Amino acid sequence: MSEGFRIRFGTFAPPAKGVLVVFCDDGLRMGPQTRAILGKTAALVARAAAVDNFKGKLGAALDIVAPPDLPVDRLVVVGLGKPKDWTPNDPVKLGGAAFGKVGSAAEVTMLAELATGAMDAETAADLALGARLRAYTFDRYKTKRKDDDAPKKAVTLTVAVKDPAAARRFGAEREAVADGVVLARDLVNEPPNVLFPVAFAERAAELRKLRVGIEILDVRAMKRLGMNALLAVGQGSAHESRVVIMRWNGGKPTDKPIAFVGKGVCFDTGGISIKPAAGMEDMKGDMAGAACVVGLMHALAARKAKVNAIGAIGLVENMPDGAAQRPGDIVTTMSGQTVEIINTDAEGRLVLADVLHHVVTKYKPQAMVDLATLTGAIMVALGQEHAGLFANDDKLSENLTKAGLATAERVWRMPLAPEYDKLIDSKFADMKNTGGRYGGSVTAAQFLQRYVGKTPWAHLDIAGTALGSPQTEINKSWSSGWGVRLLDRLVADYYEP
Ligand code: BES
Ligand code: MN
Ligand code: ZN
Repeated sequence: MSEGFRIRFGTFAPPAKGVLVVFCDDGLRMGPQTRAILGKTAALVARAAAVDNFKGKLGAALDIVAPPDLPVDRLVVVGLGKPKDWTPNDPVKLGGAAFGKVGSAAEVTMLAELATGAMDAETAADLALGARLRAYTFDRYKTKRKDDDAPKKAVTLTVAVKDPAAARRFGAEREAVADGVVLARDLVNEPPNVLFPVAFAERAAELRKLRVGIEILDVRAMKRLGMNALLAVGQGSAHESRVVIMRWNGGKPTDKPIAFVGKGVCFDTGGISIKPAAGMEDMKGDMAGAACVVGLMHALAARKAKVNAIGAIGLVENMPDGAAQRPGDIVTTMSGQTVEIINTDAEGRLVLADVLHHVVTKYKPQAMVDLATLTGAIMVALGQEHAGLFANDDKLSENLTKAGLATAERVWRMPLAPEYDKLIDSKFADMKNTGGRYGGSVTAAQFLQRYVGKTPWAHLDIAGTALGSPQTEINKSWSSGWGVRLLDRLVADYYEP
């Protein structure tokens, strides 16, 4: 995390120092307040635009250092393109793009104005959200700074708007969500020697401060419940496994909760079916599903969402060891169904099987969504721009798809069908834990489906979207915190009154 990021909303006023960010459309037109504040610098902008071939394209920027007639160190003019063609997430992206141009300034002022006049309060709040997410860095373990790196400073971003009180209301909601995204990113970026299951559980338990109810299941409690599949994954590790159940009661006491379940494999070596060495360090991020659930619960609690929500995460470390599970082992899951282990690297579904079953039977949720970095095959199918969506409920699938388009955390529906079941038939048990080369993400989802009963359920395979994330205007980090904004939006649009 950077040194701190403070967001203020004020009225249109000329800043006395720092960096000034203004906006113009694709005809280089600026709003009346912007023009008034720029004064004769407007002519300099026109000249610089011509020199730099700047056309006001969405997210493009013109950088003017030390403008002579303004007290600021830098003036950044950011293109709005054609605002009438914007897609819903474009204001967030725009805020990120704009913040990406301000360098290492401690004070940044953005004039939230279109050519036609002030942006509405929500759009202005979106700008601030984008800036905040763009500013994220994870440098907790860097002790040295390169000569040409600017020193890290706390940043104060002032967004000038027409109605600061309204922008502050939207801003507070978005700040709750941004904090959740940052929390998820931090958890995924942490190294696996620091963030082992017990340490992860402690981090999740910090949500108590936001009045989230926390229950931690230790190994004894899990044994009593019969979570043998989850425990089998962790049995080769020197670190004990944990399950954390988070509960946010923001709805009516009679409302059934919506449940979120996350795969939390704090490190995945593959176990006895060990992975190749190259790139194995990325498997510290095999808990991104769980990180997203913790980030989401933070967001819901911090913005006091009017919903009852359960977050449940299965935390294990998958290691090869004398005590580790073997290919050929048969485990009895909490549901009573038996699984023959074919490949100990297909561990995520074993963890989820027990957590999904526990959540369904204990909390009877109205709907359940799980997130998991479950299969390499989903990256082969979809790349890194969409998460795989598997659902037994068309409405839930449709709502997730819409929330994905609204937040640009997009999902793409993949099939579930009984014909795939034969691929996970076992000679010795009720099912095996892998299905062979074809349809690897589908057979993994078919496996999970056996543990959710009739609950409306969706599974998001986030192996491609959560780690080694493509660089975007709102994320320059290895981990994107993918899913927090998506699921917050799902809750806001479809589960809150
Ligand atoms: N955690 C991995 C999947 C993964 C791979 C996530 C790369 C992110 C990046 C998962 O536990 C795994 O190992 N899956 C296997 C399943 C196979 C053994 C059936 C895979 O995808 O190869
Ligand atoms: Mn694995
Ligand atoms: Zn894994």
